[in-house]
Amino acid sequence: MFADLKNKVVIITGAGSGIGKSIAENFGKAQAKVVLNYRSDKHHDELNEAKEIITNAGGEAITVQGDVAVEEDVKNLVQTTIDHFGTLDIMINNAGFEKAIPSHEMSLQEWQKVIDINLTGAFIGSREAINHFLKEDKQGVIINTASVHDRIPWPNYVNYAASKGGLKLMMETMSMEYAQYGIRINNVSPGAIVTEHTKEKFSDPQTRDETLDMIPARKIGEPQDVANVVLFLASDFSSYVHGTTIYVDGGMTNYPAFMGGKG
Ligand code: BGC
Repeated sequence: MFADLKNKVVIITGAGSGIGKSIAENFGKAQAKVVLNYRSDKHHDELNEAKEIITNAGGEAITVQGDVAVEEDVKNLVQTTIDHFGTLDIMINNAGFEKAIPSHEMSLQEWQKVIDINLTGAFIGSREAINHFLKEDKQGVIINTASVHDRIPWPNYVNYAASKGGLKLMMETMSMEYAQYGIRINNVSPGAIVTEHTKEKFSDPQTRDETLDMIPARKIGEPQDVANVVLFLASDFSSYVHGTTIYVDGGMTNYPAFMGGKG
């Protein structure tokens, strides 16, 4: 569908599972050259599966291990990509982490871990990509996976909500700085999506029902729903879209408590 993505070189961080894996596979189906970043070897089988899907579809794929929270790892990720594929066109800062802890019990280490992965990781990835785009005079694209919690407060996840809220203004600020060079920077913000990480909580009937009550579309989303929007934001179909967030959330950000028409 997005024919202009063919042969484009794209990095996806956190590509070993869930939304990241789906994004990687979809770029493969568009016959892009895909760099799948992952942190943990536990995703070995999923990475192999994604690589197979990508190469069978006529794309190319390599995997690069690295922790997005470690500056040297991200520099290595971008350099390895350029060494292997000759350039970088699209950077998808997707890696993320969440864990419920009440705010008053959260250690500084727990606070910092989420900020480092979700926010600082995306900053380093964006900075490295922008430097490459400027050097090559390339109209590159950056897309960050944020969350509905870049605007909806989330009890017990203060570090996560702060990281995603920060990611929103980080993206808007960087977009404002580099739009003049044709560099497009946008966010995709998923709501409740079934992934390896969320499967367990959504299989609990009570949590599932409570979640559905917060979604006007009354269904939990799939990684594919998010990947579709990421490919759109990466392609020339969105060539005039700068510094914005597309929510992929079944309407969750639209005050679903008002659905009954009362209040
Ligand atoms: C989180 C999910 C959560 C959803 C809606 C996402 O950012 O990753 O765990 O279900 O927001 O609250």
